[in-house]
Amino acid sequence: MITLGIDIGSRNTKIVIFDPQKRSLVFSGCVATEVNPLRSVENLLVRAEDQTGLKDFAAAACTGYGRKLWKTKARVLSEISCHAAGVLYYQPEAKTIIDIGGQDSKIITVSGEGKVSDFVMNDKCAAGTGRFLEMTALRLDCSLDELSSLAAASSLVLDISSTCVVFAESEIVGMVADNSAPADIARAVHNSIAERILTQISALEYQPPVVFTGGVALNADLVGCLSRQLDTPISVPPSPELTGALGAAILAAQ
Ligand SMILES: Nc1ncnc2c1ncn2[C@@H]1O[C@H](COP(=O)(O)OP(=O)(O)OP(=O)(O)O)[C@@H](O)[C@H]1O
Ligand SMILES: [Mg+2]
Repeated sequence: MITLGIDIGSRNTKIVIFDPQKRSLVFSGCVATEVNPLRSVENLLVRAEDQTGLKDFAAAACTGYGRKLWKTKARVLSEISCHAAGVLYYQPEAKTIIDIGGQDSKIITVSGEGKVSDFVMNDKCAAGTGRFLEMTALRLDCSLDELSSLAAASSLVLDISSTCVVFAESEIVGMVADNSAPADIARAVHNSIAERILTQISALEYQPPVVFTGGVALNADLVGCLSRQLDTPISVPPSPELTGALGAAILAAQ
């Protein structure tokens, strides 16, 4: 029995093919979500079939903002339950899960039995999301991959006072014009995102261990900023952008 998990996110579409008996990943892939997100899913499924020969699945589940678009027999599951299941696969001891994607941020608390006990979600404001990183990378003329190592070289604390990405962009343009170091600007953005998450997480009674997932968790400097602000170690699962699709593939079998 092989299962398929699909996560149609606002920024990226991910699939994971999972073997529940061996509890192992058979295939995973991630592509940018196209204007027609179903094309992204089809492209990934073609790639998966090319590499594994698999095209029929015993069970399938779909999550993410576009989860209702995939009109098949796939189960439609919430992002909260899928991210929790994906994280618990790697870290069964996790108690608090932070997922930051391209468009929203979610914080999930997990009970001792590995069940979701509470969550908060911010999908109204881009300031605590990957969108802020994308804008910053454009303004600093670097890739998302480079942003983390750039910020790691920061030696001066700069502050971004705007709590809105639109105004923060003007602040960044001003900093660039004032010859502020790109490293210090990148670090200031990471600290600003971490502050937003600190505010969001404070609405919950959260406990360690804290796990950070979603594409934004690929940014190691931001993980460090968040860990310092929360004053607790934070771990990141392998390929954190895939956690939602992995959770969907795991839950599809249940
Ligand atoms: N290599 C990278 N380094 C740092 N950050 C990255 C990298 N790749 C992607 N990101 C960030 O991850 C974000 C996308 O993450 P993810 O794929 O989890 O989002 P999504 O699931 O499509 O969005 P949402 O869950 O909000 O609908 C991007 O906005 C970007 O900021
Ligand atoms: Mg997502």
